[in-house]
Amino acid sequence: MSFVRFLLLALFIPTYNSLSSRSSTPRRLNFFSLTSPSPLLSTPSTETYFHELSSTTFSSSIGSPTDAISSLYPCTYRTFNISSHILTVRQTTHSLGKLGSSIWSSSLSLSSYLPLEPSLIKNKKVIELGCGLGLPSIIASKLGADMVLVTDFWGEEGDRGMPGGMFRECIEGNFRGNGGKGEVFMLDWHDESVTLPFQPTVVIGSDLIYYPSDIIPLIETIKRIDAAEVLLFLPLSKRREGLEEFRRKVKEENTWLVDEEELVFNTHRIGRERMLKLMITQKK
Ligand SMILES: C[S@@+](CC[C@H](N)C(=O)[O-])C[C@H]1O[C@@H](n2cnc3c(N)ncnc32)[C@H](O)[C@@H]1O
Repeated sequence: MSFVRFLLLALFIPTYNSLSSRSSTPRRLNFFSLTSPSPLLSTPSTETYFHELSSTTFSSSIGSPTDAISSLYPCTYRTFNISSHILTVRQTTHSLGKLGSSIWSSSLSLSSYLPLEPSLIKNKKVIELGCGLGLPSIIASKLGADMVLVTDFWGEEGDRGMPGGMFRECIEGNFRGNGGKGEVFMLDWHDESVTLPFQPTVVIGSDLIYYPSDIIPLIETIKRIDAAEVLLFLPLSKRREGLEEFRRKVKEENTWLVDEEELVFNTHRIGRERMLKLMITQKK
């Protein structure tokens, strides 16, 4: 190949790559674990990553091994490195129906994605909906959010498999144990009477769109919060019944701009997984 052709190609390829990031080809974000080093370790600094450092049955930073949660439920403490932020969360490994008792892959993906868009979070007031274990809230705090409102819902004693107070305690322990700045707050999308302790400017959430019956309450909740930006992640590899209904309803909102992007995440535990990133912004 002549030198001039080589030079032209070298100039063209980076331009094409940056132009094509919003094309129909899913963007690939490379996440890798230290246990399986990858040539991608030399990726540009704009790449983010996570790896799981350990998974143990004890951690001194969250709750205590003898507290009510640990006594009643099998607990695992998972430590992650997400873009150089080291954090540990306690998960209870029993089935709780709709409750987020363990980390879902979209929560890992959203948490790994946020460091790519630090300006979305830094100095902002952030609310996480349906937080489960609250990993994205922790990362938001570490990225310099002004305040984070960590929300989910918990009801009467035992009505969701675990007493509501304990579920709250689990979230609180994870958030505080990692130096989270903000508040854990009960927000049930079906309850229209809730008043938030502060006005958030950014909404984040992972894997919230699945039961069709929750779609309108979820959209109404987002409308009531009235934040400037809403970032939602959900897995495309799993069946999410409510997605089409969500898309239809969101289109009806005249004041919203919706941007969808398909991303592919590589995680050493879950493998290659397609995620949908949904960004809703208010029209000016
Ligand atoms: C699939 S889990 C995802 C949990 C977490 N975001 C994650 O990705 O690991 C769905 C979450 O939505 C919450 N959720 C479901 N219905 C809700 C409602 N009506 N109000 C508030 N949260 C709700 C559940 O409690 C649960 O934490």
